[in-house]
Formats: sequence, C-alpha cells, structure tokens
Amino acid sequence: MTEQTTENPTGTGLNAPAVRQVLAELYRASESDDAVVEHALSLVAGREEPPSLAESVELTTEALLPVQPKVGQMLHHLVRTLRPVRVVEFGTSYGISTIHLAAALRENGVGTVVGSEMNGHKVAQARKNLEAAGLADLVEIREGDARETLADLDGPVDLVLLDGWKELCLPMLDLLAPKMRPGTVIVADNLSMMPQEYLDRVRAEGGDYVSIDLPLGEGIELSTRVTPPPAG
Ligand SMILES: C[S@@+](CC[C@H](N)C(=O)[O-])C[C@H]1O[C@@H](n2cnc3c(N)ncnc32)[C@H](O)[C@@H]1O
Repeated sequence: MTEQTTENPTGTGLNAPAVRQVLAELYRASESDDAVVEHALSLVAGREEPPSLAESVELTTEALLPVQPKVGQMLHHLVRTLRPVRVVEFGTSYGISTIHLAAALRENGVGTVVGSEMNGHKVAQARKNLEAAGLADLVEIREGDARETLADLDGPVDLVLLDGWKELCLPMLDLLAPKMRPGTVIVADNLSMMPQEYLDRVRAEGGDYVSIDLPLGEGIELSTRVTPPPAG
C-alpha cells in the first residue's frame, strides 16, 4: 500500500510547495505574537496618553498579527472568484494575507496587489517572504503611512483588504472610495475590534455598500460597493 502524504509537489496557488512552506513558517512564528503584544502593552501601561501611531507600529515590530488561516483561504477564494485586476491591502505586516491574495492572482494569470506597511522592518521581511513564495513579481508594497502611500493609487480597485490599525479603517475606506466601482469588494478583518462608525458606514440602509458579518477567524465584515464613486 502506498504511503499517504499531504505533500503535493505539483500544487498551485496555496498548494504550491514554496507557498505552503513560507506560510507554515510564518504561522509558526506568529505563535509568539501574544507575548510580543503583552510586552508592548506593559511598556505603555499607566500612561495618560495612548501611544502614537508611529510608536504602536514600532512596538509591534516583532508581531506578525496575521489573518487567521480560514480568512486567508477566504481571501484566496475571493480572488479566484472575482478575478480582480487591482487588489489593495491596508496593513501588510510580514505578508501572510498578501501571500494568500497573490497565490490566487498567480492561478488567475491576471492582477496585482498593492500592499501598504508603515514598519520598515516588516516591509523588508514581507518582500523576502513574497520572494521565497515565488510571488514577489505580483506585489508592490508601499512603505509608510497608508493614508499617504495609497492616496495616489490608480483606479479602479476591485478588492480591498482592510487589516491595519482598526481606527484607520474608516479613513482608509473613504480614501479608497473614489477608486471603487459598483462591485468592488472590501474585507475588514477582526470584526470585534472594528469601530462602530466603520460598521455604520458599510451597513447603512440605502448607503454605498451592502455588508455582512461572517464568523471566520476573529470575524470579518464583508462589504460590496454598490454605488458609483463619489463625484469630484
Ligand atoms: C494586523 S497587521 C496586518 C497583518 C497582515 N494583513 C497579515 O495578514 O499578515 C496590521 C499592520 O498594519 C500596520 N499599520 C498600522 N497602521 C498603518 C498605517 N497607517 N499605514 C500602514 N501600515 C499600518 C501595522 O504596522 C501592522 O503591521
């Protein structure tokens, strides 16, 4: 009887050996995230003011903070389904979500991802990881505050992942809205941390989006733009 194996030397997408290996290593590395975040919180405990954006980004340098595997699989599935030409990501970190998105673009044979990350160390690591996964040619990562680096993006944008700091997700949605078309899909990760103003915007009856919460990973809000971009 031949031995059962999960290795698939000819797999594509998320099953491509290089992709599987890089994702496995990164998810293993993310097991230290809780300890990194706990340490970061201990450093700012007792302060009157919350840390600045730059400080919070710096304090979490060693935390990967990835989308959960099921959310990654969902991102891959969405890319295969929607066949986006332009995917935009707010919050790339070490590139786990980006790898899921780009692996599906590779299978589609069309499309690129524009990522964004403020932490320079994470940008370098994400580029290295995408290179190791064989997907670097499909991804541009813009280093700096996404509110600036993604401001001049070419439209239209077909799929958006909002996974940076949650208080910036609504400003990022509004920044990207002029590049959206009816049918643009927006995934916001970590539902329980999402500010109410964000949820109010995407769930507004008769508004610019239709939206549903899904119990994947730590919860996602899946929204679709239904109106043309704002004029002007
Ligand atoms: C939850 S992590 C992203 C995880 C990533 N999507 C993944 O699945 O691997 C959030 C990231 O957003 C970055 N970030 C926070 N605010 C940002 C900003 N204004 N511009 C760019 N990146 C930002 C943080 O440095 C952090 O690495």
